[in-house]
Amino acid sequence: MDFSLTEEHIMIRDAARDFAQTELLPGVVERDNAQTFPNELVRKMGDLGFMGIMVDPKYGGSGMDAISYVLIMEELSKIDASASVIVSVNNSLVCYGIETYGNEEQRQKYLPKLATGEFVGAFCLSEPEAGSDATSQATTAIDKGDHYVINGTKNWITNGGRGDVYLVIAQTDRDKGHKGINAFIVEKGAEGFHIGPKEDKLGIRGSDTHTLQFNDVKVPKENRIGVDGFGFTFAMKTLSGGRIGIAAQALGIAAGGYELALKYSKVRKAFGTEICNHQAIAFKLADMYTEIEAARMLVMKAAWDKDQGNNYDMSSAMAKLYASKVAMEQTVEAVQIHGGNGFVKEYHVERLMRDAKITQIYEGTSEIQKIVISRGVIKG
Ligand code: CAA
Repeated sequence: MDFSLTEEHIMIRDAARDFAQTELLPGVVERDNAQTFPNELVRKMGDLGFMGIMVDPKYGGSGMDAISYVLIMEELSKIDASASVIVSVNNSLVCYGIETYGNEEQRQKYLPKLATGEFVGAFCLSEPEAGSDATSQATTAIDKGDHYVINGTKNWITNGGRGDVYLVIAQTDRDKGHKGINAFIVEKGAEGFHIGPKEDKLGIRGSDTHTLQFNDVKVPKENRIGVDGFGFTFAMKTLSGGRIGIAAQALGIAAGGYELALKYSKVRKAFGTEICNHQAIAFKLADMYTEIEAARMLVMKAAWDKDQGNNYDMSSAMAKLYASKVAMEQTVEAVQIHGGNGFVKEYHVERLMRDAKITQIYEGTSEIQKIVISRGVIKG
């Protein structure tokens, strides 16, 4: 067993750390306040290869492994979880989905732009009545011979307003249940495809979350991903990898809060000494560090499973369940260590605390992760 990173991994991690400090940090509070999508930064992340981290270089990607992906996600998330969710959805739901399950024509058409940040991708599964219960798709995609007609509403779609390429999950044949679901590539601007108002959110406010409306949207048959009825399996398989990205995001949010709290505790004085010298604070730091390391092990194990070609349904669910809990709990502690300053935006920890919450909700709530894990445990 080897816990060390390769030289290449360290280089990639440091590049992401440097980018986060120099490019994401300035303006992160303003973007959070104004809910501004970081268009320019997405292009820069594209130039650095962060928008297509695991995509094969023949399609314009960086050809890196899942370990590199989580290292980059952790570093970006320490500073700006809004930027990192844009990266995560684009990489592990959209690029991975098209590269792994799309056909050659779809790969060649979409990946070079998605992997370089010219295009941004969105993944449209959730609906007003189908968040956790993902087989209950009300959106329909009726087969009309050479094309499908999509009707319905999708909710809480990350990159929903800024997207260029949307992967849309819809029910074609209701009698077949989840085996009658398909996934489609829908392009921005398709007739009848409307982008609804932007959500005003608690956290990840610099990311772009919208309701989408599909009114008789015609989608050519060649835009279906996989064989007829593959859509639900596609969503589940893609989300397994997505959960590694969100787990890494949660890890980064927790680690970002911890690093700020440690630094603050070494300069802030109370009762005649730096507050880290008080056991009340020192023990908090010890717990934070331990919990974050434990989360890191689970996140790395899930990424390693993916790189090894092992099944990672359970390891990604465990990583997300645990890392998101750590993110929530430890960012609360980071605010507490900062005292009154923790409640003030310029100290960043209150934003990390708000951003942490979504990691327990999207790409499968913590309760859904427990369903996945418990079924795996019982099945053996
Ligand atoms: N890989 C392959 N197939 C899978 C699978 C997987 N990981 N998980 C389930 N399946 C298959 C099952 O084998 C089953 O197929 P068969 O009937 O042929 O055996 C089929 O899918 C249905 O599975 P279940 O019977 O387990 O279905 P269920 O109704 O009990 O629900 C669930 C399963 C795990 C709860 C699922 O509905 C789920 O994951 N829900 C959460 C959805 C989710 O994560 N939503 C997030 C939205 S996306 C998002 O947040 C993106 C964003 O913008 C950030």
